[in-house]
Amino acid sequence: MKILIIGSGGREHALAWKISQSKNVKKVYVAPGNGGTADGNSLIENIDLTRNSDLIEFAKQNNVSLTVVGPEIPLSNGIVDDFKKNNLKIFGPTKAAAQLESSKDFAKEFMYRHKIPTADYKTFNNLAEAKAYVKKRGTPIVIKADGLAAGKGVIIAKNHTEAMEALEMMLIDNVFGESGARVVIEDYLEGEEASFIVISDGDSILPLASSQDHKRLLDNDLGPNTGGMGAYSPAPIVSKELHKKIMAQIIEPTIKGMKSDGIRFSGFLYAGLMIDKDTNLKTLEFNCRMGDPETQPILFRLKSDLLPILFSATDNTLHSCHIEWEDVSSITVVMAAKNYPNEPKLGDVIDGLDSDEISADKFIFHAGTSFEKGKIKTAGGRVLGVTAKAISLKEAKEKVYELVKTIKFDGAQYRKDISDKALK
Ligand code: AMP
Ligand code: GLY
Repeated sequence: MKILIIGSGGREHALAWKISQSKNVKKVYVAPGNGGTADGNSLIENIDLTRNSDLIEFAKQNNVSLTVVGPEIPLSNGIVDDFKKNNLKIFGPTKAAAQLESSKDFAKEFMYRHKIPTADYKTFNNLAEAKAYVKKRGTPIVIKADGLAAGKGVIIAKNHTEAMEALEMMLIDNVFGESGARVVIEDYLEGEEASFIVISDGDSILPLASSQDHKRLLDNDLGPNTGGMGAYSPAPIVSKELHKKIMAQIIEPTIKGMKSDGIRFSGFLYAGLMIDKDTNLKTLEFNCRMGDPETQPILFRLKSDLLPILFSATDNTLHSCHIEWEDVSSITVVMAAKNYPNEPKLGDVIDGLDSDEISADKFIFHAGTSFEKGKIKTAGGRVLGVTAKAISLKEAKEKVYELVKTIKFDGAQYRKDISDKALK
């Protein structure tokens, strides 16, 4: 059977890598893919991911049995709705369900109504009213563009001046365009973050292994926010107890609440959590897809075949599925291009990708890479997700950094402390 994966990042390389191992799979197409997915799978370059009709045409012509959507933009453009109208099987939420990610105001209002723990908030499109609310509430405070902003639309304002600048940037200067024409202002929360991702068919829920991302560019959580500079799985902070609490307080009420609102949620549901020192939970955000880079260490320890699970979720029979994990820790270290997260330098040759270090427990997932004239070059901000697994997190960390050191490209930057929080 033939499978189509939509997207071009490290998450999509990891999905293609895992799904290619499924016993009934003859071919995995990745649209548009990257330099890593060119290996063994088929790239569909020059495809416009905002044109659902092109993807539908491709899936029909190539007899694709299932399409799996990686990133949020096609979901919020209704790719799932359009595939279904054409009787094509696709894994992911509909446009209406994807509002949990595509509108922070939708998500907050939903959480309030269904009593799902989250920070107190208000939504504004008027600058004077927004400013007055910040004044009343005090700082630090968090200002979020309502719509999709590629992870850049959240500003933690430490003081009044930063808050005013953020509001003006979004509401007056329209830096995030339509996405920032409305802002959600929410209370600042303290604690440790974790990513909790599940698969749902709208009724049943299958939790994936826990993980933790590292959003800041530099060691010790300093520097600007990025898409994520590394992740590990499992996240020890998510104990058995806490896992139960996350399911009971956040995940189950979300899936049930969406169903009772008449918008069944089918697909990956990602809850970004803040856990305080007394293990009280708050939901920071929902994503309607897997995380990047969380997917890489999560799938690297997945023992089960992923594909039958995705089919079951699409066919509404997820209750019959079971998922097994290797009892190991895995880590992904993101190697980013020079100048990321601003204007990343592109087009540099990457050396060391055919490292002797690569084995069953070490792998390099590509993200911003291209395959040109026999060479792999940098083609995006986050270039590679170097990954390793071992019986302990400490050993996994040693292994992953051994591999990182063998890979070279101009101006490569990476964090040296991925997983240290869990090792402390
Ligand atoms: P979001 O896209 O909403 O998850 O926000 C991106 C990042 O901003 C999160 O991963 C947190 O590190 C931080 N963040 C978001 N909301 C809050 C909050 N209410 N308090 C503290 N930090 C936050
Ligand atoms: N790594 C965070 C995200 O995928 O949203």
